[in-house]
Amino acid sequence: MSMETAIAEKAADRAGLRIPAHLAVIMDGNGRWAKARGKQRTEGHLEGVKALRRLISLCIRYGVEHVTVFSFSSENWSRPRDEVNFIFGLLHRFVASDLATLLHNNVRVRIIGSRDGLDDGLRRLIDDVEVKTALNTGLELIVAFNYGGKSEIVEASRRLAQAVAAGRMKPEDIDEATFERALYTSGVPDPDLIIRTSGEQRFSNFLLWQGAYSELVFIEENWPDFGEETFLRALEEYSGRKRRFGGIETRSP
Ligand code: IPE
Ligand code: IPE
Ligand code: MG
Repeated sequence: MSMETAIAEKAADRAGLRIPAHLAVIMDGNGRWAKARGKQRTEGHLEGVKALRRLISLCIRYGVEHVTVFSFSSENWSRPRDEVNFIFGLLHRFVASDLATLLHNNVRVRIIGSRDGLDDGLRRLIDDVEVKTALNTGLELIVAFNYGGKSEIVEASRRLAQAVAAGRMKPEDIDEATFERALYTSGVPDPDLIIRTSGEQRFSNFLLWQGAYSELVFIEENWPDFGEETFLRALEEYSGRKRRFGGIETRSP
């Protein structure tokens, strides 16, 4: 066991918490956070990046293995052009400013979502951060950017259909395991817990396949206000949940 993991386990034990191996977060409420303070929505997105940094260090400290964050949905293109550009710029700035820290903290980065509609610069940036962090063995940070759950499922279906048409696969080879391998999240265990901030209680097209049996925790605070206190509150709620996966509760021996 590494020293990092041992320290994380101690922190979790102290708090009496069950730690999800895969935590997913719908980081919502940046605009409302800004509006409540008489600021521009973009200020809310900037504060949202600070909350993301807090989330990453909390995940490292408490021993979460994979964290997926929803940062731009395929439906967010319907926002004003300026806001879309600002969010794209933020991804560039985040990678430029935080890559060294991510490397130092042994974080592996994967960006999931459609690459259609992204300019060449952004595609290169995504490839670059994935390649540079690929050999890291600590927390896996999965950024859902230009991501939509429905289109992920459609893309996976198309890939499998192409494999069948090319004779590389038979229709009867398509099962849940082969389908999962065709998703963006191939190889990542399904999220144990999905947290959504800002009081909204919906998926908004996030991890539709992978979230089939995730526990859901909704938090009233807007994303820029997320910190250790909200993180622990969500984990406490999760720790009290009974996961049955369609079965019945088993009695401890
Ligand atoms: C989440 O905050 C960030 C993105 C969707 C990019 P919002 O921008 O959705 O903030 P609200 O929901 O309008 O407050
Ligand atoms: C979901 O939030 C997408 C992200 C957090 C990136 P939205 O703000 O886009 O969702 P709706 O429109 O309220 O459902
Ligand atoms: Mg929103």
